[in-house]
Amino acid sequence: MRILLTGANGLVGQKIKEALARDEQAELWATSLHPEINVLKGNYHYHTLDITMPSMVDDLMQRARPHVLINAAALANVNHCEKEKAECQQVNTEAVTTLIRLANHHKTHLVQISTDFVFQGQQSTYQEDDPRNPVNHYGLAKKQAEDQVMEEASLWSIVRTILVYGYVPELKRNNLVTWVYQSLQQGKPIKVVSDQYRMPTLAEDLAGAIVQIARQEKEGIYHISGREGMSIEQMAQRVGDYFNLDTSLITPVTSAELGEPARRPTHSGFNLFKAEKELGYLPHSFEEGLEVVEQQMNKFH
Ligand SMILES: NC(=O)c1ccc[n+]([C@@H]2O[C@H](COP(=O)([O-])OP(=O)(O)OC[C@H]3O[C@@H](n4cnc5c(N)ncnc54)[C@H](OP(=O)(O)O)[C@@H]3O)[C@@H](O)[C@H]2O)c1
Repeated sequence: MRILLTGANGLVGQKIKEALARDEQAELWATSLHPEINVLKGNYHYHTLDITMPSMVDDLMQRARPHVLINAAALANVNHCEKEKAECQQVNTEAVTTLIRLANHHKTHLVQISTDFVFQGQQSTYQEDDPRNPVNHYGLAKKQAEDQVMEEASLWSIVRTILVYGYVPELKRNNLVTWVYQSLQQGKPIKVVSDQYRMPTLAEDLAGAIVQIARQEKEGIYHISGREGMSIEQMAQRVGDYFNLDTSLITPVTSAELGEPARRPTHSGFNLFKAEKELGYLPHSFEEGLEVVEQQMNKFH
């Protein structure tokens, strides 16, 4: 099976690349906007690809003729999206129009990665078919991309996820766990929001589920996250405790006190029933996830 992956330099993209590069049944074409970071041993091609350039995507789709196209490319910085709405729209929505058109043309199954931020965030657990009502521009752009996929793609799946954490030796954007770990280790005080609740997702759990969905060409929407709901501040405390770091450097703050440019959903969590039933999805606990992160940090340091 040939699989074309976009956004392969991102956290999620790198974990999908890792999973597929060692899979002998898959021929992986990994792509991202910039040259590859973290080159792996394994059986795959790497190409730079800007998904906002239809002619580049067209050319690569013609060469790869993939059975499945996994779109893990995104402008995922929520505050940046609030300030640069046109850029956010271009990468997170308009580029998806191109991917859908070319996927349809080549009879390729499109796997679009999406987010809990399509929901308003007033419920502790959301199901796949719950009504969406985003509270910021990033969520709106991702919702519009979902709408297009559902309405126009012939073969598709949408995988929504929540606050992804994990370790790779090089990463352009920190995630909650690596940010807290690095800050506390360097003795830097941090302010962490205490009135937003999430179900954090280990990047390996997500990548495993995406690969399974891609390989089985599963149709429809899937919710993939961890199983434990907690506030972001509780998450930070647990990271500090796990790594025996000084948690007195953590100051809890409210969303209002933090005053970020983009509003955030207050509560977001997923009902994982469909993923459990159809994929046998069994996520790590947060504690086990931190063990995975620690093992990887030890391997590379
Ligand atoms: N991380 C989370 O907590 C989270 C939560 C919910 C949903 N998601 C979703 O999960 C997916 C992956 O997110 P992530 O956390 O892996 O994000 P990420 O680490 O920021 O990676 C996104 C990647 O997209 C690539 N990219 C940006 N613009 C591009 C363009 N024009 N053409 C091609 N590639 C481009 C970048 O590649 P270069 O590095 O090569 O520039 C970047 O590495 C996204 O759809 C996001 O919305 C993430």
